[in-house]
Amino acid sequence: MRSIEGISMAAAARAAAPLAALLLLLTIAAVPPPAEAHVQIGAYNKTCPQAEDIVLKEMTAILAKSPNLAGPVLRLFSVDCFVGGCEGSILLDSTASNTAEKDSPLNQGVGGYQVVDAIKAKLEAACPGVVSCADTLALAARDSVRLTKGPFIPLPTGRRDGNRSVAADVAPNSPPPGATIADIIALFANKFNLTAKDLAVLSGAHTIGRARCSTVSLRLYNLGGRNGASDPTLDGNYTATLRGQCKPGDNATLVDLDPPTPTTFDTDYYTLVAGNRGLLSTDAALLLDPATSAYVAAQANATSPDQFFADFAASFVAMSRLGVLTHHKGEIRQVCSKVNQPAPASTNAGAAAGRSYRTAGLALITTLAVALLI
Ligand code: HEM
Repeated sequence: MRSIEGISMAAAARAAAPLAALLLLLTIAAVPPPAEAHVQIGAYNKTCPQAEDIVLKEMTAILAKSPNLAGPVLRLFSVDCFVGGCEGSILLDSTASNTAEKDSPLNQGVGGYQVVDAIKAKLEAACPGVVSCADTLALAARDSVRLTKGPFIPLPTGRRDGNRSVAADVAPNSPPPGATIADIIALFANKFNLTAKDLAVLSGAHTIGRARCSTVSLRLYNLGGRNGASDPTLDGNYTATLRGQCKPGDNATLVDLDPPTPTTFDTDYYTLVAGNRGLLSTDAALLLDPATSAYVAAQANATSPDQFFADFAASFVAMSRLGVLTHHKGEIRQVCSKVNQPAPASTNAGAAAGRSYRTAGLALITTLAVALLI
């Protein structure tokens, strides 16, 4: 026989069951899961509100001293994004057991690493362990454009850092030697989901910066392996000027991609390409496809840079979303050239967040269930 207390306890428990189920549902709904960290505008607004200001301030100081660093930083970001996504892998040093992307022969002319390291040091001092190297680079590249009189690009942030950086990954994600415009458009479409228009627009980044003589020497002295043969599609006067700047065998000298205004982000690049004075063979190749050549012609004849600026902002953001790592993937590197030392499992941030969420939820449910039954 059940005691009076037993009957009343059981009845109370039965009566409370639907209410408990409802409360359980409400509890689960009320305790938010850890936020999905997609890239978004102002991702650091709460965790490091000064982050974007710090990057801008540092970039302003760096470019005031060395205006030629805008080009390398902007290029560094594209090189990062095109190989394995915008996850800071280009910044990692090689180790005893791994040759990193930065040491691929294809990345020999890539620079600007010291700029990212300097900015990251300031960010770490202000907000330790919060802003990724991938975002530091992305924001610095964005500011390279702004500080050379290009558009301000509102840039989604929240990228985390990857720790795969393998030199052998570079070639399959770069235009092959002697690439035709069709090859490059196909590479953009198949690997990056970017259009021919994105290619024409992003190539407009060559409105600032420099290339090594070794990059252009084939067009000046050895086209198609023929000694002394220059590229007939390159304007003759420009060829002569370039031959004056780049002697045969000179691998060190740097030449401006946009000689009239090498540190100003403008539409001059398109005027040059349209006039057969695009420095790189891939710049000249834009004239060989109807979609890219139409874009070059439109910008060469534009009376204002507004359309190019709007297009560049859109294509830059599209590029900046390539292969981003968010949420529990990747890490926030402390030093951009090295992956973090593996932390003990108990300090893993994602696992800890998940655990604390579950623990809080369970504690609340238990409290409510006990309260209902007594
Ligand atoms: C098919 C696409 C691209 C190709 C084939 C390409 C190729 C090159 C090459 C060969 C150089 C000269 C490197 C050297 O001689 O050391 C260069 C420089 C540069 N590239 Fe590109 N690029 C491409 C896309 C981009 C994109 C998407 C951006 C940025 C949004 C960019 C920004 C730059 C800048 C700013 C420089 C000058 C770097 C400096 O001053 O050190 N490029 N690019």
